[in-house]
Amino acid sequence: MAPHNHHHPPKSVIIPIPVLVAAVTASTVLLFFLIPFLTSSSCHCPTTTTTTTTTTTTPATTTFTTSSQSSSRSELQISPTSEDITWWKQQLLENQLHDYQETKNKLRKGINPRTRDQQLQDLIQFKGISHYEEPESANHTALPCPGELLVEEHHSNYGEPWAGGRDVFEFLAESVSLLPDSRVLEIGCGTLRVGIHFIRYLNSEHFHCLERDELSLIAAFRYELPSQGLLHKRPLIVKGEDMDFSKFGSGFQYSLIYASAVFLHMPDKLVWIGLERLVDRLKPNEGRIFVSHNIKFCSRLGGDECTKKLSSLGLEYVGKHTHDSLLFNHYEIWFEFRRVKA
Ligand SMILES: C[S@@+](CC[C@H](N)C(=O)[O-])C[C@H]1O[C@@H](n2cnc3c(N)ncnc32)[C@H](O)[C@@H]1O
Repeated sequence: MAPHNHHHPPKSVIIPIPVLVAAVTASTVLLFFLIPFLTSSSCHCPTTTTTTTTTTTTPATTTFTTSSQSSSRSELQISPTSEDITWWKQQLLENQLHDYQETKNKLRKGINPRTRDQQLQDLIQFKGISHYEEPESANHTALPCPGELLVEEHHSNYGEPWAGGRDVFEFLAESVSLLPDSRVLEIGCGTLRVGIHFIRYLNSEHFHCLERDELSLIAAFRYELPSQGLLHKRPLIVKGEDMDFSKFGSGFQYSLIYASAVFLHMPDKLVWIGLERLVDRLKPNEGRIFVSHNIKFCSRLGGDECTKKLSSLGLEYVGKHTHDSLLFNHYEIWFEFRRVKA
């Protein structure tokens, strides 16, 4: 049986005009207050925003999701922050690089793996893949560099890893709150293992060094400065071994004077001569002298003779520090001194 359909005409609702006017007014007022919360452009967000990276890793595939991080970095921040370290660890995980095994990778190091010696031999024998056939005197090289330096033999000159130079820079620069406009003197900068980082950071002509070894100076000038694109920084590097600083000029004071693995190789008497000549070149109070490894030039005097001698020069021992390397299981020992006499 067909259902019965009862069609009723729609009922009309009659709203009195005063009620309608009141309803429209109420909605307008409500909207007026709600609009600021509904639009995002008026949000007063903090300037530092950090969006975390989400990574889905399965044995076969790694899915990268977008990551955005904008944080204002202080001008005084030189060493990596904990956020930098976290980011680095995340990148290794995302690229599945976290289980590097030296033995496993030994046999597959590129298409033409060469040791430094082999690379040097190649340079001498074949001069690289494309080269000018004219005599050497007519070659087009602006700053011809010896082969030993091109294969970076000098990066192993001091036994310790070259990368440790960055650790020293970060520690010292942050210890004195270094700014690009500060001035720095290194005694015995060698091949610029440490100095190259100061040169890059500081303003032109603000890095000075006294170094006695000719081969180290050749490496510094003929390879490190040009290959790092730092010729424009015009560091003042002077050859000398007598703690004679007269060639460095006058009319300014250093924020930092340091000797990295140098004073232990010098006669004590020469170290003291140097300190005496340097006091007036160091900024009073905030300026610092840092010496690495040991201060036997001091302790060998016995008793409190060192404190007295320092004080007679206008210097004061501040303390001993250790600083961990970023890349290898190693720490460096530093002794800090400051100038007390204005
Ligand atoms: C172990 S190396 C360290 C080089 C550099 N400071 C570094 O940390 O990589 C010591 C350096 O001190 C230099 N040196 C030693 N006695 C010196 C002296 N009396 N005057 C200037 N430099 C000196 C050496 O020639 C050498 O380059």
